Formats: sequence, C-alpha cells, structure tokens
Amino acid sequence: MKDCKITFIGGGNMARSLIGGLIEDGFNPDHIHVSDPEPLCLQALTDKYPVHTYTSNLSAAKNCNVLILAVKPQQLQAVVKQLAPEWESDRLLISIAAGIKLDDMARWLAFDDAAIVRAMPNTPSLVQAGAAALCANDAVSRQQHELAESILRAVGLAIWVDDEVKMDAVTALSGSGPAYFFLVMEAMEFAATEMGLDAETARLLCLQTAFGAAKMALESDESTSTLRERVTSPGGTTERALHELDDGGLRGLFENALIAAALRSRELATQLGEDNA
Ligand SMILES: NC(=O)c1ccc[n+]([C@@H]2O[C@H](COP(=O)([O-])OP(=O)(O)OC[C@H]3O[C@@H](n4cnc5c(N)ncnc54)[C@H](OP(=O)(O)O)[C@@H]3O)[C@@H](O)[C@H]2O)c1
Repeated sequence: MKDCKITFIGGGNMARSLIGGLIEDGFNPDHIHVSDPEPLCLQALTDKYPVHTYTSNLSAAKNCNVLILAVKPQQLQAVVKQLAPEWESDRLLISIAAGIKLDDMARWLAFDDAAIVRAMPNTPSLVQAGAAALCANDAVSRQQHELAESILRAVGLAIWVDDEVKMDAVTALSGSGPAYFFLVMEAMEFAATEMGLDAETARLLCLQTAFGAAKMALESDESTSTLRERVTSPGGTTERALHELDDGGLRGLFENALIAAALRSRELATQLGEDNA
C-alpha cells in the first residue's frame, strides 16, 4: 500500500474524508492524485494536504495503481467511459458511488478482467467514524482486496459482503442509516424541550446518550436486545416508554423504512446502469 499511487476522480466530500483518513493513517500524500473540474475545490484540498491536483481526469489517472471514483452516481458512466481507452491491466478500480453495479462498470470500461471493487461508505466517514461495506468482482486479487479494505478502513469500519445483491440492504442500513438516527435524536430532543429542558441541554444529553449507547453496544459481546432488556427494570420508567414505542409500531416502521430504501437502491441501479446514448 505504501508505494502505490492512488488517484481520486472527484474531489468532493467523500474524497476529502478518505484523503484525510489515509494521510492520518500515515499514507504519503505525495502518492495521492486528485482530479476535479472545479479549481476552487482542488485549492481547498491543497490548502490542507500536499497532494497532486488536476482538472483533467486522464492526467490524474496516469500510472496510478488504484483509481477511486468519488463522483456522483449520475456522473459515473461518463467518467468511466472517458478513462476506458487508457485503462491499465494491473490497476484496481474502486467506486464509492451509490447503486452502480460491478458489471455495469466493467461493461463501460470495456476491458477484459478489469479488477473492480464497489464500496458503500456513509457520511460519518467525514469524521473517521464511517461504516462501509465492500464487494469485488472475480478479477480482484488478494492483494487488491487488502488494499481496498485498508483504504476504506482509514475512515472507519470496512466489511466485505459475499454477494453484490446485499449492497441494497447495506445501502438501506448503513448508507442511509445516519439519517434515521438523526431523526430519532431530533424527535427525542424535541420531546425533551416540550417537557421543559432548554434546547442546548436537550441536545447534549441526547447526543451523548446516543454516542454512549452505540459505544457500549460496540464494546459488548451481548446483543442489542440483551442490552435493552438489561436497562429495562420491570415496572420502571424505561419499560413504560418502550411499551409506548412498541404500541406505536416502531419495529414495523423501521422494517418498512429499510425495505423502501433497498427498493429505491435497486431502482437507481437499474436506472443509472442503462447505457447512455
Ligand atoms: N457523502 C456521503 O456520505 C456518501 C455516502 C455513500 C456514498 N457516497 C458516494 O460518494 C460519491 C461522492 O459523493 P460526495 O458526497 O463526495 O459528492 P460531492 O461532494 O458532490 O463530490 C463529487 C465531486 O466530483 C466532482 N465532479 C463532477 N463531475 C466530475 C467529473 N466528470 N470528473 C471529475 N470530478 C467530477 C464534483 O464537482 P462539481 O461539484 O463541480 O460537480 C464534486 O466536487 C457519490 O457517488 C456518492 O454516491 C457518498
């Protein structure tokens, strides 16, 4: 990993967080190349990190070992087709774009046995607390697997899934998941202010509670349901609140929400995977 040259196509939020994570992890910034059409975006990057920047994707991609596609899913097809004529056989392509399938990228690249990894990170990657799932096509070598994993691990958790179909469930769970937790926290904060707490006190107590619960669950071998049962004394306040949530159908609501997100992920994959004229 140390000696490889990594090129990012697209220098936006996710690229910035991955670059920051890699450099913090000890990766040499001199081996990082970034292209973006917006000079101000590149300037913001070089103000922070001594990386190489380009407004031409082809110039940035020259001689790189790993190419990370960090553009919006809608821009991905055009970018892959632009890079295709100069693709090199031992190069690894990593796409972090939501929804775009491995086979579609391989077809656009039009290169036999192109090694491609698809990753689904999430927004907490911006604060090095991301959760990403990855899947690879058959052309990806063991070494390239390790390389892709270590790049994503620089900004949080990285887990492989054995079947690309599961990426829709991943998108529904961890890809879109931060928003569900923001909503839950927003609702709890609001309820607390309605009961008389000032906004700042409600916010701090709520956020620290969410953080503490996640930390406790991560550090425990017990399931989340055991942890919940353990803090629910019979006849107590937590039990009364949980009854309200169950009676209101919270579990069913989450099930429906995740199914809806996974369906949308599938729809986007079909829509964006079609060849543009
Ligand atoms: N943010 C997340 O939490 C998150 C989570 C999971 C997956 N992702 C995926 O990560 C990818 C990047 O997301 P993001 O949030 O970082 O988006 P972003 O901030 O909009 O970054 C994308 C960058 O690519 C640039 N760009 C546009 N067309 C380009 C081209 N032809 N060649 C090179 N660069 C080009 C954009 O420039 P302009 O702004 O000038 O167009 C922008 O600076 C997306 O595919 C998204 O699905 C993001």
